[in-house]
Amino acid sequence: MRGIILSGGAGTRLRPLTKITSKQLLPVYNKPMIYYPLNTLLKAGIKEILIIVAPERAGDYLNLLGSGSRFGVKFTYEIQDEPKGLPEAFIIGENFIDRENITMILGDNIFEDDFSADIKNFKSGGKIFVKKVSDPERSGVVKFDQRMKALEIVEKPKKWISDYAIVGLYIYDHRVVEIAKNLKLSDRGELEIIDLHNWYLAKAELEVAMVNGDWLDAGTFDSLLEAQNLAKQKLQEKLII
Ligand code: TTP
Repeated sequence: MRGIILSGGAGTRLRPLTKITSKQLLPVYNKPMIYYPLNTLLKAGIKEILIIVAPERAGDYLNLLGSGSRFGVKFTYEIQDEPKGLPEAFIIGENFIDRENITMILGDNIFEDDFSADIKNFKSGGKIFVKKVSDPERSGVVKFDQRMKALEIVEKPKKWISDYAIVGLYIYDHRVVEIAKNLKLSDRGELEIIDLHNWYLAKAELEVAMVNGDWLDAGTFDSLLEAQNLAKQKLQEKLII
């Protein structure tokens, strides 16, 4: 299993904080934000990690994280020239992924859960994770049956289908590279991760699992503040870096 931390993007909702730095380098209590998703991958024993960043911030990431030897792992860096959507990570990461399975985590997603077992036991297909939210219309949403079998996945549904939002941690087999290459841009001009999920869903190879602990996407002022408190109150003893 290899890992990707997707840490580019524009961070427009956090302006002016993100005018001079990357969102995922902002402090979350006593660590840069990216340490939290990095911690999630390290805890699961992933040793090879690709960090995808925006061109103007690449030097800052190198200064902060270096080769990875400090953490006992190897980092590879790639640039995403423009934020053209999450699936582009698998196109940029084609050589890195090679024929291995891949876990991708978003650089602004902070989890209390330990995903080690999911990551270590993964064999093939796709696996996504969901969490109950109060505002499903803002996320990719999954409708599933009592046995967690996905029935339908919709991006920002206008009509309610479920309260379960897809969080920013995805496990796929290496086929994801070719699938990503064949995706078409959506109306908003991006490649959509939901189209990857739907590819695996159509083949009955998509697994859905529940996130039990706290989860935050720290991309707004309010969620960044919540992330700081979560980090201070609950996450310190779970961090290995
Ligand atoms: P978003 O929060 O959707 O986008 P953003 O970070 O650019 O922020 P804003 O909407 O405020 O402008 O992105 C989720 C995560 O994925 C975040 O860590 C940035 C990353 N990302 C990329 O690295 N490349 C991309 O093309 C996209 C869409 C997101």
